[in-house]
Amino acid sequence: MEYRQLGRTNLSVSILGLGSGGANRLGQRQDVERSESHSLVRHALDLGINFFDTAPAYGDSESLLGEALAGVPRESYVLNTKFTMRNDEPGAARASLEGSLRRLRTDYVDVISFHGLEPESYDSTLERFMPELQRAQRDGLTRFIGATERYEIDDAHEALERALTEDVFDVVMLGHNLISPGGLRAVLPLAQQKNVGVVVMCAVRTIIVNPDLLQETIRQWKDAGALAEDAVPDEGPLDWVLGPGVESLADAAYRFAVESPAVSTVLTGTANLQHLDDNVRSILSPPLPRATSERLRNTFIPANKSVLLHSFRRRSP
Ligand SMILES: NC(=O)c1ccc[n+]([C@@H]2O[C@H](COP(=O)([O-])OP(=O)(O)OC[C@H]3O[C@@H](n4cnc5c(N)ncnc54)[C@H](OP(=O)(O)O)[C@@H]3O)[C@@H](O)[C@H]2O)c1
Repeated sequence: MEYRQLGRTNLSVSILGLGSGGANRLGQRQDVERSESHSLVRHALDLGINFFDTAPAYGDSESLLGEALAGVPRESYVLNTKFTMRNDEPGAARASLEGSLRRLRTDYVDVISFHGLEPESYDSTLERFMPELQRAQRDGLTRFIGATERYEIDDAHEALERALTEDVFDVVMLGHNLISPGGLRAVLPLAQQKNVGVVVMCAVRTIIVNPDLLQETIRQWKDAGALAEDAVPDEGPLDWVLGPGVESLADAAYRFAVESPAVSTVLTGTANLQHLDDNVRSILSPPLPRATSERLRNTFIPANKSVLLHSFRRRSP
């Protein structure tokens, strides 16, 4: 495994991290036995993965992680949990964090993140919750404070761009993949400049590994004028990414996601042990050929997909 620094936190994190949300939630969505979820986490540790992302909103994920990590030296892994800004009673953020700590069986997390910071409610959210989280930080319940974006409704990454400009967080979580590489434009350069850790989410999601959904989505983007008609083929729109040494779109996706040195770690949301092995191999592979990477950037960074985000949201888990 390779490790990178998580921005100014000085934490050293594996370049592949394990996510416990998304389509799988450590296998909860497939109704696997708890022991299988524990095995997935243990296998991740064996592969050198030391970064685990979770949230109270991910069903039983925090408890499953807490069980699987029991007995593992606490300083050997990094925990990022979140809190949902729905309950604005005074003390809600701290109460949420204390619940996370109980379930994770630890007395501190490394990062607590605002879960899905939105551009529209940015000011009110920070005003309401930041002082409480800063108190929790002073009390040692969390080492750092971060934010994740609402990737499916904030395709332009407005919330993170603003937060980075104002230098509010130590860590941010960015939605970044082969067909949504817009973070390369402002978020990643700003994060690098401010030495803020970047965690990539949704490197694959469902769309990259579902050929019908990918094809249909590209068609919709073209129909709406978000993408030029001749930008990519209608059938197999990303087939040109594959070639010698690039085995599959999942392989390409993790390699592309980690390419920028501003990225500290890329989450994988797999619940499949074989895929976890494959994804470690991918993330440790050389970058995609330069021409492929450039074509992805030139094609998809300028694409304005905001008009279509509602349909995209309905289809994403
Ligand atoms: N706003 C937020 O805070 C937010 C939002 C979204 C996600 N997240 C975090 O980010 C994590 C990762 O995002 P994600 O769940 O979208 O993960 P992802 O790794 O981008 O996508 C996971 C999907 O890709 C498939 N997959 C993974 N590796 C594969 C392979 N080698 N071959 C074929 N299919 C493969 C998985 O299916 P298999 O199980 O079959 O491998 C799963 O359906 C989440 O778990 C969560 O922790 C946070």
